[in-house]
Amino acid sequence: MPSNGKPDLSTMADYITKGGVSSVVVMVGAGISTAAGIPDFRSPKTGLYHNLSRLKLPYAEAVFDIDYFRKQPEAFYTLAQELYPGKFKPTLFHSFLKVLEEKGILRRVYTQNIDTLEEIAGVEADKVVYAHGSFAENHCIDCHAEMSKEDLREIMEKDDIPRCKKCKGLVKPDIVFFGENLPARFFKLLDNDLSAADLVIVAGTSLQVHPFASLPSQVSCPRILFNLEAVGDFGRRKTDVIRLGACDEGIRDLADQCGWGKRLTELWESKSKKWKSVEEEEEAGAKTQKEVLKAVNQEAKEEKIDGEDKESKEVEKITEQISGIEIADETSSKETSSKSKV
Ligand code: OAD
Repeated sequence: MPSNGKPDLSTMADYITKGGVSSVVVMVGAGISTAAGIPDFRSPKTGLYHNLSRLKLPYAEAVFDIDYFRKQPEAFYTLAQELYPGKFKPTLFHSFLKVLEEKGILRRVYTQNIDTLEEIAGVEADKVVYAHGSFAENHCIDCHAEMSKEDLREIMEKDDIPRCKKCKGLVKPDIVFFGENLPARFFKLLDNDLSAADLVIVAGTSLQVHPFASLPSQVSCPRILFNLEAVGDFGRRKTDVIRLGACDEGIRDLADQCGWGKRLTELWESKSKKWKSVEEEEEAGAKTQKEVLKAVNQEAKEEKIDGEDKESKEVEKITEQISGIEIADETSSKETSSKSKV
Protein backbone atom coordinates (compact mmCIF):
# COMPACT_ATOMS: atom_id res chain seq x y z
CA MET A 1 0.00 0.00 0.00
CA PRO A 2 1.35 3.48 -0.81
CA SER A 3 2.75 4.99 2.38
CA ASN A 4 2.56 8.71 1.49
CA GLY A 5 -0.25 10.61 3.22
CA LYS A 6 -3.16 9.34 5.26
CA PRO A 7 -4.78 6.37 3.55
CA ASP A 8 -8.45 6.51 2.66
CA LEU A 9 -10.89 4.33 0.74
CA SER A 10 -9.38 5.28 -2.59
CA THR A 11 -5.92 4.28 -1.35
CA MET A 12 -7.43 0.97 -0.30
CA ALA A 13 -9.16 0.54 -3.66
CA ASP A 14 -5.77 1.01 -5.38
CA TYR A 15 -4.14 -1.42 -2.97
CA ILE A 16 -6.84 -4.01 -3.72
CA THR A 17 -7.06 -3.64 -7.48
CA LYS A 18 -3.38 -3.18 -8.27
CA GLY A 19 -2.55 -6.67 -7.12
CA GLY A 20 -1.49 -5.90 -3.55
CA VAL A 21 -4.26 -7.97 -2.05
CA SER A 22 -4.87 -11.69 -2.37
CA SER A 23 -6.19 -12.66 1.04
CA VAL A 24 -8.95 -10.59 2.62
CA VAL A 25 -10.26 -11.52 6.04
CA VAL A 26 -13.58 -9.92 6.96
CA MET A 27 -14.81 -9.66 10.56
CA VAL A 28 -18.43 -8.69 11.01
CA GLY A 29 -21.21 -8.23 13.54
CA ALA A 30 -24.87 -7.38 13.80
CA GLY A 31 -24.49 -3.94 12.15
CA ILE A 32 -24.12 -5.50 8.69
CA SER A 33 -27.62 -6.96 9.01
CA THR A 34 -29.55 -4.01 10.41
CA ALA A 35 -30.40 -2.90 6.85
CA ALA A 36 -32.05 -6.32 6.43
CA GLY A 37 -34.36 -5.45 9.33
CA ILE A 38 -32.56 -7.41 12.04
CA PRO A 39 -31.79 -5.23 15.06
CA ASP A 40 -28.25 -5.18 16.42
CA PHE A 41 -27.62 -5.71 20.11
CA ARG A 42 -26.14 -2.59 21.61
CA SER A 43 -27.25 0.42 19.58
CA PRO A 44 -29.05 2.85 21.88
CA LYS A 45 -32.86 2.74 21.40
CA THR A 46 -32.91 0.35 18.42
CA GLY A 47 -30.63 -2.42 19.76
CA LEU A 48 -32.11 -5.69 21.01
CA TYR A 49 -30.70 -5.25 24.49
CA HIS A 50 -32.54 -1.94 24.83
CA ASN A 51 -35.81 -3.52 23.79
CA LEU A 52 -35.92 -6.65 25.87
CA SER A 53 -37.85 -5.27 28.85
CA ARG A 54 -40.82 -7.46 27.86
CA LEU A 55 -38.66 -10.50 28.66
CA LYS A 56 -38.09 -9.27 32.22
CA LEU A 57 -34.43 -10.24 32.19
CA PRO A 58 -32.19 -9.55 35.19
CA TYR A 59 -29.75 -7.96 32.68
CA ALA A 60 -29.94 -7.81 28.88
CA GLU A 61 -27.23 -10.31 28.01
CA ALA A 62 -28.96 -12.92 30.20
CA VAL A 63 -30.97 -13.90 27.13
CA PHE A 64 -27.76 -15.47 25.78
CA ASP A 65 -26.45 -16.73 29.14
CA ILE A 66 -26.30 -20.49 29.48
CA ASP A 67 -27.02 -20.47 33.25
CA TYR A 68 -30.01 -18.21 32.79
CA PHE A 69 -31.21 -20.37 29.89
CA ARG A 70 -31.27 -23.41 32.19
CA LYS A 71 -33.60 -21.54 34.52
CA GLN A 72 -35.66 -19.48 32.05
CA PRO A 73 -35.44 -20.85 28.48
CA GLU A 74 -38.61 -18.95 27.52
CA ALA A 75 -36.69 -15.67 27.18
CA PHE A 76 -34.31 -17.05 24.55
CA TYR A 77 -37.06 -18.85 22.67
CA THR A 78 -39.19 -15.71 22.47
CA LEU A 79 -36.27 -13.97 20.80
CA ALA A 80 -35.33 -16.98 18.67
CA GLN A 81 -38.73 -16.94 17.01
CA GLU A 82 -38.09 -13.37 15.90
CA LEU A 83 -34.52 -13.94 14.77
CA TYR A 84 -34.95 -17.35 13.17
CA PRO A 85 -33.25 -17.36 9.74
CA GLY A 86 -35.41 -17.52 6.65
CA LYS A 87 -37.25 -14.23 7.00
CA PHE A 88 -34.48 -11.87 5.99
CA LYS A 89 -32.70 -10.90 2.79
CA PRO A 90 -28.99 -10.14 2.40
CA THR A 91 -27.77 -6.57 2.46
CA LEU A 92 -25.40 -4.86 0.05
CA PHE A 93 -22.58 -5.59 2.47
CA HIS A 94 -23.33 -9.33 2.33
CA SER A 95 -23.25 -9.19 -1.46
CA PHE A 96 -19.87 -7.45 -1.36
CA LEU A 97 -18.53 -10.56 0.38
CA LYS A 98 -19.63 -12.54 -2.66
CA VAL A 99 -17.87 -10.04 -4.94
CA LEU A 100 -14.65 -10.59 -2.98
CA GLU A 101 -15.12 -14.32 -3.36
CA GLU A 102 -15.69 -14.01 -7.11
CA LYS A 103 -12.52 -11.96 -7.40
CA GLY A 104 -10.69 -14.84 -5.73
CA ILE A 105 -9.41 -12.76 -2.82
CA LEU A 106 -11.80 -13.68 0.00
CA ARG A 107 -9.83 -15.72 2.50
CA ARG A 108 -12.55 -15.90 5.18
CA VAL A 109 -15.49 -14.15 6.78
CA TYR A 110 -15.59 -14.35 10.56
CA THR A 111 -19.13 -13.51 11.56
CA GLN A 112 -20.65 -13.06 14.99
CA ASN A 113 -24.07 -13.19 13.36
CA ILE A 114 -26.46 -16.09 13.49
CA ASP A 115 -28.66 -15.02 10.60
CA THR A 116 -26.65 -16.97 7.94
CA LEU A 117 -27.10 -14.06 5.50
CA GLU A 118 -23.50 -14.53 4.34
CA GLU A 119 -24.41 -17.89 2.81
CA ILE A 120 -27.81 -16.69 1.65
CA ALA A 121 -25.89 -14.00 -0.26
CA GLY A 122 -24.10 -16.85 -2.02
CA VAL A 123 -20.78 -17.03 -0.15
CA GLU A 124 -19.49 -20.62 -0.04
CA ALA A 125 -19.88 -22.33 3.35
CA ASP A 126 -16.15 -23.00 3.66
CA LYS A 127 -15.44 -19.25 3.48
CA VAL A 128 -17.62 -18.49 6.51
CA VAL A 129 -16.80 -19.04 10.16
CA TYR A 130 -19.80 -18.66 12.46
CA ALA A 131 -17.84 -17.51 15.48
CA HIS A 132 -20.94 -17.42 17.67
CA GLY A 133 -22.53 -20.50 16.13
CA SER A 134 -25.78 -20.57 14.21
CA PHE A 135 -29.24 -22.10 14.03
CA ALA A 136 -27.96 -24.79 11.65
CA GLU A 137 -27.94 -27.52 14.32
CA ASN A 138 -29.57 -28.01 17.71
CA HIS A 139 -28.47 -30.11 20.67
CA CYS A 140 -29.63 -31.09 24.12
CA ILE A 141 -27.60 -29.08 26.63
CA ASP A 142 -27.35 -32.14 28.91
CA CYS A 143 -26.87 -35.32 26.82
CA HIS A 144 -25.96 -33.48 23.55
CA ALA A 145 -28.41 -35.50 21.46
CA GLU A 146 -29.30 -33.71 18.24
CA MET A 147 -32.74 -32.41 17.37
CA SER A 148 -33.53 -31.68 13.73
CA LYS A 149 -34.19 -28.11 12.63
CA GLU A 150 -37.63 -29.10 11.47
CA ASP A 151 -38.58 -30.57 14.86
CA LEU A 152 -37.21 -27.58 16.72
CA ARG A 153 -39.00 -25.14 14.48
CA GLU A 154 -42.29 -26.98 14.82
CA ILE A 155 -42.05 -26.95 18.62
CA MET A 156 -41.04 -23.28 18.64
CA GLU A 157 -43.95 -22.34 16.41
CA LYS A 158 -46.32 -23.84 18.99
CA ASP A 159 -44.67 -21.57 21.58
CA ASP A 160 -43.34 -24.65 23.37
CA ILE A 161 -39.83 -25.14 24.71
CA PRO A 162 -37.89 -27.86 22.85
CA ARG A 163 -36.93 -30.75 25.14
CA CYS A 164 -34.67 -33.69 24.38
CA LYS A 165 -36.51 -36.84 23.31
CA LYS A 166 -33.97 -38.96 25.19
CA CYS A 167 -33.34 -37.23 28.52
CA LYS A 168 -35.89 -34.39 28.56
CA GLY A 169 -33.07 -31.87 28.89
CA LEU A 170 -33.39 -28.47 27.27
CA VAL A 171 -32.52 -28.27 23.59
CA LYS A 172 -30.98 -25.16 22.13
CA PRO A 173 -29.60 -24.17 18.73
CA ASP A 174 -25.80 -24.29 18.55
CA ILE A 175 -25.53 -20.55 19.14
CA VAL A 176 -22.63 -19.75 21.43
CA PHE A 177 -23.96 -18.42 24.71
CA PHE A 178 -21.96 -16.50 27.28
CA GLY A 179 -20.14 -19.17 29.26
CA GLU A 180 -19.77 -21.50 26.25
CA ASN A 181 -16.85 -22.16 23.94
CA LEU A 182 -16.64 -20.90 20.41
CA PRO A 183 -16.91 -23.56 17.69
CA ALA A 184 -13.83 -25.70 17.07
CA ARG A 185 -13.72 -24.45 13.46
CA PHE A 186 -13.00 -20.92 14.72
CA PHE A 187 -9.85 -22.05 16.53
CA LYS A 188 -8.83 -24.40 13.78
CA LEU A 189 -8.74 -21.71 11.07
CA LEU A 190 -7.97 -18.55 12.96
CA ASP A 191 -4.17 -18.50 13.25
CA ASN A 192 -3.50 -19.32 9.62
CA ASP A 193 -6.15 -16.90 8.40
CA LEU A 194 -4.79 -14.03 10.47
CA SER A 195 -1.22 -14.71 9.36
CA ALA A 196 -2.25 -14.91 5.70
CA ALA A 197 -4.39 -11.75 5.71
CA ASP A 198 -3.12 -8.84 3.63
CA LEU A 199 -6.27 -6.81 4.24
CA VAL A 200 -8.75 -6.97 7.11
CA ILE A 201 -12.22 -5.47 6.80
CA VAL A 202 -14.18 -5.02 10.02
CA ALA A 203 -17.83 -3.98 9.89
CA GLY A 204 -20.94 -3.58 12.01
CA THR A 205 -19.55 -4.66 15.33
CA SER A 206 -19.04 -2.90 18.64
CA LEU A 207 -16.08 -5.24 19.38
CA GLN A 208 -17.43 -5.77 22.88
CA VAL A 209 -17.45 -9.54 23.06
CA HIS A 210 -14.27 -11.56 23.51
CA PRO A 211 -12.44 -13.37 22.09
CA PHE A 212 -13.83 -11.99 18.79
CA ALA A 213 -13.20 -8.41 19.89
CA SER A 214 -9.44 -8.92 19.94
CA LEU A 215 -9.13 -10.31 16.40
CA PRO A 216 -8.59 -7.02 14.52
CA SER A 217 -5.73 -6.07 16.82
CA GLN A 218 -3.97 -9.36 16.11
CA VAL A 219 -3.19 -8.62 12.46
CA SER A 220 -0.39 -6.48 11.11
CA CYS A 221 -1.84 -5.77 7.64
CA PRO A 222 -3.91 -2.70 6.65
CA ARG A 223 -7.41 -2.58 8.12
CA ILE A 224 -10.65 -0.89 7.10
CA LEU A 225 -13.50 -0.26 9.53
CA PHE A 226 -17.05 0.31 8.26
CA ASN A 227 -19.17 1.20 11.27
CA LEU A 228 -21.49 3.82 12.70
CA GLU A 229 -18.97 4.47 15.48
CA ALA A 230 -15.23 4.04 16.01
CA VAL A 231 -14.50 0.79 17.84
CA GLY A 232 -11.62 -1.23 19.24
CA ASP A 233 -8.14 0.11 18.55
CA PHE A 234 -9.02 1.46 15.09
CA GLY A 235 -7.28 4.72 14.39
CA ARG A 236 -4.15 3.89 16.33
CA ARG A 237 -2.31 2.66 13.25
CA LYS A 238 -1.24 4.85 10.37
CA THR A 239 -2.54 2.32 7.87
CA ASP A 240 -6.06 2.16 9.34
CA VAL A 241 -8.94 3.49 7.28
CA ILE A 242 -12.12 4.30 9.18
CA ARG A 243 -15.34 4.93 7.29
CA LEU A 244 -18.00 6.00 9.74
CA GLY A 245 -21.63 5.69 8.65
CA ALA A 246 -23.89 2.96 7.33
CA CYS A 247 -21.75 0.05 6.17
CA ASP A 248 -23.81 -0.42 3.00
CA GLU A 249 -22.91 3.11 1.94
CA GLY A 250 -19.25 2.63 2.77
CA ILE A 251 -19.03 -0.66 0.94
CA ARG A 252 -20.82 0.77 -2.10
CA ASP A 253 -18.19 3.48 -2.17
CA LEU A 254 -15.32 1.00 -1.95
CA ALA A 255 -16.88 -1.24 -4.61
CA ASP A 256 -17.34 1.74 -6.96
CA GLN A 257 -13.75 2.81 -6.45
CA CYS A 258 -12.58 -0.72 -7.20
CA GLY A 259 -14.68 -0.69 -10.38
CA TRP A 260 -16.90 -3.43 -9.00
CA GLY A 261 -20.06 -1.36 -8.43
CA LYS A 262 -22.04 -2.88 -11.30
CA ARG A 263 -21.31 -6.44 -10.23
CA LEU A 264 -22.18 -5.62 -6.63
CA THR A 265 -25.57 -4.25 -7.71
CA GLU A 266 -26.24 -7.29 -9.91
CA LEU A 267 -25.42 -9.73 -7.14
CA TRP A 268 -27.40 -7.87 -4.53
CA GLU A 269 -30.44 -7.45 -6.76
CA SER A 270 -30.37 -11.12 -7.70
CA LYS A 271 -30.55 -12.03 -4.02
CA SER A 272 -32.73 -9.28 -2.66
CA LYS A 273 -35.33 -9.30 -5.43
CA LYS A 274 -35.42 -12.92 -6.54
CA TRP A 275 -34.73 -14.44 -3.17
CA LYS A 276 -37.92 -15.07 -1.23
CA SER A 277 -38.44 -15.42 2.49
CA VAL A 278 -39.79 -18.71 3.85
CA GLU A 279 -43.27 -17.19 4.07
CA GLU A 280 -43.17 -15.84 0.50
CA GLU A 281 -41.90 -19.17 -0.82
CA GLU A 282 -44.53 -21.11 1.06
CA GLU A 283 -47.24 -18.81 -0.23
CA ALA A 284 -45.93 -19.29 -3.76
CA GLY A 285 -45.95 -23.07 -3.20
CA ALA A 286 -42.49 -23.29 -4.72
CA LYS A 287 -39.46 -25.11 -3.36
CA THR A 288 -39.11 -23.37 -0.05
CA GLN A 289 -36.13 -21.41 1.09
CA LYS A 290 -36.28 -23.70 4.11
CA GLU A 291 -35.53 -26.62 1.80
CA VAL A 292 -32.75 -24.70 0.10
CA LEU A 293 -31.21 -23.87 3.47
CA LYS A 294 -31.64 -27.46 4.57
CA ALA A 295 -29.71 -28.63 1.51
CA VAL A 296 -26.99 -26.05 2.14
CA ASN A 297 -26.73 -27.09 5.78
CA GLN A 298 -26.67 -30.75 4.87
CA GLU A 299 -23.83 -30.13 2.42
CA ALA A 300 -21.93 -28.13 5.03
CA LYS A 301 -22.48 -30.90 7.54
CA GLU A 302 -21.20 -33.57 5.15
CA GLU A 303 -18.14 -31.47 4.35
CA LYS A 304 -17.57 -31.04 8.06
CA ILE A 305 -17.71 -34.77 8.63
CA ASP A 306 -15.32 -35.43 5.75
CA GLY A 307 -12.84 -32.67 6.37
CA GLU A 308 -12.90 -31.50 9.92
CA ASP A 309 -13.62 -34.44 12.10
CA LYS A 310 -10.20 -35.83 11.29
CA GLU A 311 -8.74 -32.98 13.24
CA SER A 312 -11.53 -32.56 15.74
CA LYS A 313 -9.80 -34.41 18.56
CA GLU A 314 -6.83 -32.09 18.41
CA VAL A 315 -9.05 -29.02 18.21
CA GLU A 316 -11.18 -30.25 21.09
CA LYS A 317 -8.06 -30.41 23.21
CA ILE A 318 -7.28 -26.78 22.43
CA THR A 319 -10.80 -25.52 23.01
CA GLU A 320 -11.06 -27.33 26.32
CA GLN A 321 -8.27 -25.11 27.55
CA ILE A 322 -10.04 -21.92 26.51
CA SER A 323 -12.96 -20.58 28.47
CA GLY A 324 -16.10 -19.22 26.86
CA ILE A 325 -17.00 -15.89 25.34
CA GLU A 326 -17.28 -12.91 27.59
CA ILE A 327 -18.27 -9.29 27.42
CA ALA A 328 -15.48 -6.75 27.50
CA ASP A 329 -15.37 -4.53 30.55
CA GLU A 330 -14.82 -0.85 29.97
CA THR A 331 -11.04 -1.13 30.13
CA SER A 332 -10.81 -4.10 27.85
CA SER A 333 -13.12 -2.63 25.23
CA LYS A 334 -10.62 0.19 24.92
CA GLU A 335 -7.59 -2.10 25.21
CA THR A 336 -8.98 -4.87 23.06
CA SER A 337 -5.97 -7.10 23.14
CA SER A 338 -5.74 -7.22 26.93
CA LYS A 339 -8.46 -9.82 27.39
CA SER A 340 -7.71 -11.93 24.37
CA LYS A 341 -8.24 -15.61 24.92
CA VAL A 342 -7.10 -16.77 21.53
P1 OAD B 1 -23.46 -4.83 18.63
O1 OAD B 1 -24.91 -4.49 18.68
O2 OAD B 1 -22.74 -4.90 19.91
O3 OAD B 1 -22.71 -3.77 17.72
C1 OAD B 1 -23.20 -3.41 16.46
C2 OAD B 1 -22.31 -2.32 15.90
O4 OAD B 1 -22.72 -2.06 14.58
C3 OAD B 1 -22.39 -1.00 16.67
O5 OAD B 1 -21.08 -0.46 16.79
C4 OAD B 1 -23.27 -0.14 15.78
O6 OAD B 1 -22.95 1.23 15.88
C5 OAD B 1 -22.93 -0.67 14.41
N1 OAD B 1 -23.99 -0.54 13.40
C6 OAD B 1 -25.32 -0.74 13.52
N2 OAD B 1 -25.96 -0.58 12.35
C7 OAD B 1 -24.99 -0.27 11.44
C8 OAD B 1 -24.99 0.02 10.04
N3 OAD B 1 -26.10 0.00 9.30
N4 OAD B 1 -23.80 0.31 9.46
C9 OAD B 1 -22.65 0.33 10.16
N5 OAD B 1 -22.60 0.06 11.48
C10 OAD B 1 -23.74 -0.25 12.11
O7 OAD B 1 -23.35 -6.18 17.80
P2 OAD B 1 -22.11 -7.18 17.75
O8 OAD B 1 -20.82 -6.46 17.84
O9 OAD B 1 -22.34 -8.07 16.60
O10 OAD B 1 -23.51 -12.54 21.03
O11 OAD B 1 -22.33 -8.01 19.09
C11 OAD B 1 -21.46 -9.06 19.40
C12 OAD B 1 -22.17 -10.16 20.14
O12 OAD B 1 -22.88 -9.60 21.26
C13 OAD B 1 -23.26 -10.83 19.35
O13 OAD B 1 -22.76 -11.86 18.51
C14 OAD B 1 -24.14 -11.39 20.43
C15 OAD B 1 -24.14 -10.27 21.39
O14 OAD B 1 -24.29 -10.61 22.72
C16 OAD B 1 -24.19 -13.69 21.09
O15 OAD B 1 -25.25 -13.82 20.59
C17 OAD B 1 -23.49 -14.77 21.79
